[in-house]
Amino acid sequence: MAITVLVGVQWGDEGKGKIIDVLTEKVDVVVRFQGGNNAGHTVEIGKEKFVLHLVPSGIFRRKATCIIGNGVVVDPLALEEEIISLEKRGVKIGKRLQVSTRSHLIFAYHRMMDAMHEGSRSEGKKIGTTKRGIGPAYADKMSRIGIRALEMLDLKRLEKSFREHAEYYNKIFKAAKIEQVDTDAEWKKVSKAARFLGKYVTDTVLTINEAASEKKDILFEGAQGMWLDVDYGTYPFVTSSNTTTSGACTGSGLSPKYIENVVGVIKAYTTRVGEGPFPTELKDEMGELIRKTGREFGATTGRPRRCGWFDAISSRYSCMVNGVDRLAVTKLDVLDMLPEIKICTAYRINGKKTTVMPSDTEDITAAVPVYETMPGWQQTTSNARSFKQLPKNAQKYLKRISELAGSKIGIISVGPNRDQTFYI
Ligand code: GDP
Ligand code: IMO
Ligand code: MG
Repeated sequence: MAITVLVGVQWGDEGKGKIIDVLTEKVDVVVRFQGGNNAGHTVEIGKEKFVLHLVPSGIFRRKATCIIGNGVVVDPLALEEEIISLEKRGVKIGKRLQVSTRSHLIFAYHRMMDAMHEGSRSEGKKIGTTKRGIGPAYADKMSRIGIRALEMLDLKRLEKSFREHAEYYNKIFKAAKIEQVDTDAEWKKVSKAARFLGKYVTDTVLTINEAASEKKDILFEGAQGMWLDVDYGTYPFVTSSNTTTSGACTGSGLSPKYIENVVGVIKAYTTRVGEGPFPTELKDEMGELIRKTGREFGATTGRPRRCGWFDAISSRYSCMVNGVDRLAVTKLDVLDMLPEIKICTAYRINGKKTTVMPSDTEDITAAVPVYETMPGWQQTTSNARSFKQLPKNAQKYLKRISELAGSKIGIISVGPNRDQTFYI
């Protein structure tokens, strides 16, 4: 496995959790490096289904050390709840989980600010955030007023910071005539969570660098996906972190010189949850059919995901930015019953044809997809365990999307379960 970064190539929910769980069979360390509990990574093992929000998806492998890196924003209440619920279900965590001293914390006022921002945006300007406080917490980090996980090791210090910060937010809420934070009640919850989480808080930069120098296998678990990246995504309809490969280094403290491998997880079609442009979106029965067959409902918020055809334009650009070595194509089985399948090979923007993803979100909004149509296979693929076992038309489809995305396929997933996966 060496040192590998795994990222989402599209708009998130590509099936990263499943692929990470498969890859971690042989991995020593798994690192989340950005995002927070806006993520929902599903892992299905036998009949059990787990959805992880902050805990790395390597937690089901007893050998793996799981790290929440400095680039992650951590809601202490959410993390406490997630750990307790995993342990209740028999997942042994113990000392395998580490939380970076440098990760920033999310509190109730961040969640409230997230909701306030969303509420004040006019139609067409709403982002459709997960309302987990992600944007405000990252804003505080950049404004240099954030509170870091290391403060959980000194409750007196944390209390002082928390109360000051809550007061600062309450002034804003008061001026906006909205409900204020009940500081005492919140502090009760926060101090309980901080006491619970203290044992996990450590300088994870050291753990990661030590593992790298000992030539251990490290897997970086990206959250969200390329088009939600704050720099490269469909800004401002993005999340507030660097979801792309380079985020793995700033979000963990490992130098880029160690990265050996990049796996890009990509669905055989496209989905997006939340607002923002989505050129190949299907607002018709076909979109509905894909949503139903693919069970496309948000793992974090339960919102229906918007569904559409495979988009080679955004995928190629994404593979370039991420430096994808191998694609992991997921949910091929969802297309099994379709008589024909479309692939977007160009955009027509204000009458002009282009094969390059524009940087201007207004252009992406105006993009009309140009499609090529391929015959479907109308046969089940979920029992296939090698490329050869796939129907010929499925093979042709995969070859075509790989060629257009400009990246080789290394893994194919034909169902949500661990064993419904094979390598090429
Ligand atoms: P993530 O955020 O990238 O980890 O993806 P999510 O967990 O939010 O969404 C992916 C969904 O697809 C989950 O419900 C997975 O169980 C499911 N899934 C993953 N791979 C496959 C696959 O190959 N086929 C099918 N049918 N479902 C899959
Ligand atoms: P995983 O890791 C899909 C979307 C939200 C919204 C935008 C900003 O499971 O792939 P935020 O709460 O981050 O400020 O919301 O980003 N979003 C995701 N969409 N998968 C995710 O994570 C997402 N995390 C955030 O829907 O459009
Ligand atoms: Mg998800």
